[in-house]
Amino acid sequence: MLFFSAAALLLVLALSSAVEAGKCPRVCSCDSTKLAVTCVGKNLTEIPPTIEEITVKLDLRNNNLQVLPRGAFTLTPYLTHLNLQRCNIIKVKEGAFRTLGRLVSLNMANNKITVLYQESFDGLSSLKELHLDHNRVEEIQPGAFTQLGFLNMLALTHNQLVYIPNMAFQGLNNIKWLRLSHNALNNLDPEAFAGLFTLSRLSLDHNELQFFPTQTMTRPPEVTRLDMSHNPMTYLGEESVSMPKLTHLYLNHMSLQDLSDQALSRAPLLSHLDLSHNQLRYLKPLSGPEALTSLNLTGNPVYCNCYMRPLRGWASVRGVKLLGACAGPPHLSEEPLQAVAPLDLRCRSRAETLKAEFEEDDESAGSIPPTAKPKQKVKCPVNCDCDIEVQHATCEGRGHTKVPRGFPTKTQLLDLRSNHFHHLPANSFPGTSQVVSLHLELCKIHEIEGGAFRGMRNLFYLYLSDNDLTSLDPRAFAGAPELNYLHLEGNRLIQFPGSALALLPSLFVLHLERNAISKLEPTGLLSSVTPKLQELFLTNNTITAIAKGALDSAFLGTLHLDSNQLTEIPTQALFEAPNLEELNLSQNSIRWVGPNAFKPISHSLKRLYMDQMGMEKMSRDALAGLGPGLRALTVRGNQLEELPDLSPLTGLQVVDLQDNPLMCDCPLLPLRRWMENVSLEVIATCGHPPEVRGQNVMDVHVFTSCPESSAPPDERVVVAPTPPNVQKPKASLSKEPGVKASPAKPKTKLPKPPKNKPQRKPVATKVIKNKKTL
Ligand SMILES: *[C@@H]1O[C@H](CO)[C@@H](O)[C@H](O)[C@H]1NC(C)=O
Ligand SMILES: *[C@@H]1O[C@H](CO)[C@@H](O)[C@H](O)[C@H]1NC(C)=O
Ligand SMILES: *[C@@H]1O[C@H](CO)[C@@H](O)[C@H](O)[C@H]1NC(C)=O
Ligand SMILES: *[C@@H]1O[C@H](CO)[C@@H](O)[C@H](O)[C@H]1NC(C)=O
Ligand SMILES: *[C@@H]1O[C@H](CO)[C@@H](O)[C@H](O)[C@H]1NC(C)=O
Repeated sequence: MLFFSAAALLLVLALSSAVEAGKCPRVCSCDSTKLAVTCVGKNLTEIPPTIEEITVKLDLRNNNLQVLPRGAFTLTPYLTHLNLQRCNIIKVKEGAFRTLGRLVSLNMANNKITVLYQESFDGLSSLKELHLDHNRVEEIQPGAFTQLGFLNMLALTHNQLVYIPNMAFQGLNNIKWLRLSHNALNNLDPEAFAGLFTLSRLSLDHNELQFFPTQTMTRPPEVTRLDMSHNPMTYLGEESVSMPKLTHLYLNHMSLQDLSDQALSRAPLLSHLDLSHNQLRYLKPLSGPEALTSLNLTGNPVYCNCYMRPLRGWASVRGVKLLGACAGPPHLSEEPLQAVAPLDLRCRSRAETLKAEFEEDDESAGSIPPTAKPKQKVKCPVNCDCDIEVQHATCEGRGHTKVPRGFPTKTQLLDLRSNHFHHLPANSFPGTSQVVSLHLELCKIHEIEGGAFRGMRNLFYLYLSDNDLTSLDPRAFAGAPELNYLHLEGNRLIQFPGSALALLPSLFVLHLERNAISKLEPTGLLSSVTPKLQELFLTNNTITAIAKGALDSAFLGTLHLDSNQLTEIPTQALFEAPNLEELNLSQNSIRWVGPNAFKPISHSLKRLYMDQMGMEKMSRDALAGLGPGLRALTVRGNQLEELPDLSPLTGLQVVDLQDNPLMCDCPLLPLRRWMENVSLEVIATCGHPPEVRGQNVMDVHVFTSCPESSAPPDERVVVAPTPPNVQKPKASLSKEPGVKASPAKPKTKLPKPPKNKPQRKPVATKVIKNKKTL
């Protein structure tokens, strides 16, 4: 009897464990009621072959799959949800998903996919959502999406698309929303969106489109919302927007200087037009959109004189809500447009009236419809192409050694890149006062004489990237006072060109990546010189030091100092940049971050990047002062064994702690608790002690024997002995070659490591539930 029951028990045990083993791969956790399997952050190089066939939700985030072979999921044909984010996927072979006819949602964001092959998505006949954002897609092969007849939403944001070929999205017969934001699109074939008969929403914001793709946009017939914001367009001509169903159009944050009153004449249903943050001084009543209810002109330099009277009157009569304010004249400055009475919109001085009349003439001369114009001979320099209608002229890569002259006077975009100018003498661009955007990339320029751009009164964007400049004449930019965006990346500048910038009072964004600047000095670099500078990019220089006063700028919002040679956080210098929101310090050699390092900017900072700095220690108070305002924090690829308390950072949306050798022991318990608590995807791996090396902090069990440490410190008593490696940061600090940070500083300032803190006496061990956040 006894024997029998013991044998039966053994049998039952053996059976149940066999079933368990078959059901759930060792590295995964399985929820048999929801039929969900989670194998997150295991560095898996292939899909575990023992996942139960019946699984419907499979979460494989944060692994190392690299290539998805043909038929990768044949063993799990019932999947409806598959998450492959951050799996280091480089290539999806044709037919990879062929067996997944029930899949509804596929997430492959944050991988390294560069090409979408013809049959990559074959078989996904039920798929509704496909996330391919944050990859490196630069090519969509014809037919890539032909099998996705049920797809509703395709996200291709944050990729490297430059060009969309004809019929790229053929087969998406149920697509509602196509998201192409944050690419580098500058060219869309006329048939790029052909065949998308159900598309209602199209996002093309944050690209490089220099003019409105009129013809391309006539193809998807049902689009109601189009987001084109943050593209460098300067002008919108007649009938630019020809979209019969469009109701919402976002053209904000572009560089529009002018907009034809007929630009929207073929968008009859438009109700919301956002033109905020452009460079519009005047706007005429818009013909076409009879149902317009809202016209947003916020952030334009609208000049409230008699030119604006027709618009104001039209808005009142039509019931169009005008948003925005007058930028001038002084007595109306900041007055909401909606509040200004038409009669107050006057041209008071004689000069102004004359000017108005003059421009009126000019206007009427120019407003003859282009179709009615006989094809006249366009004035254009030899070896260049000029397009009067879109006001572009280009001589790109035509071997010019001198800047050509004689462009049409209305030219707004002048593209001279890839020529061999070597040297730009004074007055190199006569008669180009309407040019807004000037491209001089890759022109082997090593010298720019003072006054080279003289007369370019409207120049807004200047691209001097990838030339051979080693210094800049202090008067190099004289006569181009409207310049807002200056690209000087990829030159050989050895100093911050402060004095040349003094002539650019409107400078807003400055690119100086890939130069040879080694110091930032307090020579009144910013606030006095470039009072409006908001974004400064200094990535990949050789900066070793930033003097106090060097960053003096009340408006600076974005500062990229990554890939330099800083050895400490430039805390002192940050005092003068009280509105800094984004700071990138990745790839410097900052081994130690002391207390209050970001205190001066703690109220404004939203994004802080400190990856790959060889950082060995962060003071417990390193992030002091930072709170709910911080949205992103990354410390990936450092040598951190501990981290400061992250729980005050309640507003975090992105956090990256990967590739740090964390010491998985009781002092890390607060981090572990925090990880369990937040609804963020946090990956953190143990580096010590040896028995848990490489395991995810969420998976190790060492914490189960830790005492509750939520009690105030004074209640704690010593509990577990800890490995004696507290000195390690200091030791390796002094060994590292080329590190100038004085080791004395950490020695005196390092807070007592929490390991040595007395802890509360052990209470009954509490098993921490192995919660996975989704
Ligand atoms: C992940 O696996 C690859 C090779 O399979 C290995 O080279 C790498 O070190 C592993 N990374 C971690 C964090 O375990
Ligand atoms: C108008 O534009 C501003 C600036 O882009 C934006 O903050 C505001 O929400 C817009 N208003 C409406 C009603 O769209
Ligand atoms: C820095 O610039 C050099 C030369 O342009 C380039 O080879 C290198 O890859 C860049 N490094 C980074 C981190 O961008
Ligand atoms: C920060 O700098 C690193 C190193 O150059 C770079 O890889 C990363 O993309 C940057 N992050 C942002 C948000 O600019
Ligand atoms: C967990 O979250 C709750 C509420 O969001 C908060 O009160 C608590 O302090 C958090 N605990 C930890 C350890 O972060």
